[in-house]
Amino acid sequence: MRTQVGIVGAGPAGLLLAHLLKLHGIDSIIVEGLGRAVCEGRRRAGMLEHWVARLLIDTGVGDRLKREAEFHDGIFISHEGVARRIDFQALIGQQVVAYDQKDVVTDLIAHLLAGGTQILFEVEDAVLHDIHSDAPKIRFRQGDDIRQIDCDFIVGCDGFNGISRACIPARERSEHEMILPYAWLGILAEAPAPEREFIYGWHERGFALFSRRGDNLSRHFMQCVHSESQDSWPDSLIWDELTLRLGGARELSRGRILQKSYTPMRAFVAEPMQSGRLFIAGDAAHIVPPTGAKGMNLAIADACVLADALADHFIRHDEVKLHNYTDTCLRRVWWAQHFSWWLTNLLHADVQRHTFNLRRQSAEIDHLLNSQAAMTMLAENFCGRPYDPF
Ligand code: DHB
Repeated sequence: MRTQVGIVGAGPAGLLLAHLLKLHGIDSIIVEGLGRAVCEGRRRAGMLEHWVARLLIDTGVGDRLKREAEFHDGIFISHEGVARRIDFQALIGQQVVAYDQKDVVTDLIAHLLAGGTQILFEVEDAVLHDIHSDAPKIRFRQGDDIRQIDCDFIVGCDGFNGISRACIPARERSEHEMILPYAWLGILAEAPAPEREFIYGWHERGFALFSRRGDNLSRHFMQCVHSESQDSWPDSLIWDELTLRLGGARELSRGRILQKSYTPMRAFVAEPMQSGRLFIAGDAAHIVPPTGAKGMNLAIADACVLADALADHFIRHDEVKLHNYTDTCLRRVWWAQHFSWWLTNLLHADVQRHTFNLRRQSAEIDHLLNSQAAMTMLAENFCGRPYDPF
């Protein structure tokens, strides 16, 4: 097999890249270790920056999003029993869009397959070869067959635990990591959410996030300690704790818990995001703490930068954007790291329960909710800066 761009991984970065390349007339093949149903069923964050939703709509993969996504004009922050709204629309004229990552993935897979792009699911033992030559290759096993894709470029969109990042030679690569002392216990429950928009709740017992996934479907998260497994929380205790942390700011409806998840928090950046003819994108290159839901938005921004750069290479024979790929992406990534870190530390209770920190956080939240400038800063970061190709 031969293609211009071989893509490893059928998550948001890899799928969107294939989609944008196709619009430029550049062909690609995606290889993915998991099956299609697993890719389409994996529940991750559910919030798109406004420009991402627009991009999906404007490039022809947003029909279902237009029908089913909820456009939010703001968020609530609950603190000491009161939920106060930060109105993004009034502050900066923008919105955020509630739409699950798994739905973005499902829509992109359907669109790509219908348009003839090959996505090879359930490939095994994928290995990258000759990334420092003009003819890099992806070799893998599919059933009993060993297969090879000859490429002009390879893009690793295979997540934090994928094979691609390690193919950037160790002598070129530096990695920056911070393990945060927090984790999230998440539930998906058959119950109406307390608000249409997200509620980010500060409580001295720990952070909680309340969100809606449909009329009778909620997704809520609460800060728990590292290593505390989801099994140590029986359902009734989860509801008790969430109710406590909402602090009476709203009624919390209970219902059957359909799924539980446990997410330890880490912040991670690898640089450079390229070596020879290999580029990496999304979680393969960077992980943000989940607060603020920046992960998928960053993956999509990487795909936009790379699609533009590859179009310049193939169509205009201009290498500048490819050369600058890492710097262009990392500028956005590091700012998102800062925002996610700031929002996490603003809202999560000090693991040691130092009263100094709890009081200091309360003062910062009080300032935020009473300052137009501070709310505008938060709104700009939540809604995200549109990707600008120039
Ligand atoms: C969701 C996750 C987040 O981290 C966030 O800030 C907002 C929403 C979510 O999965 O719904």
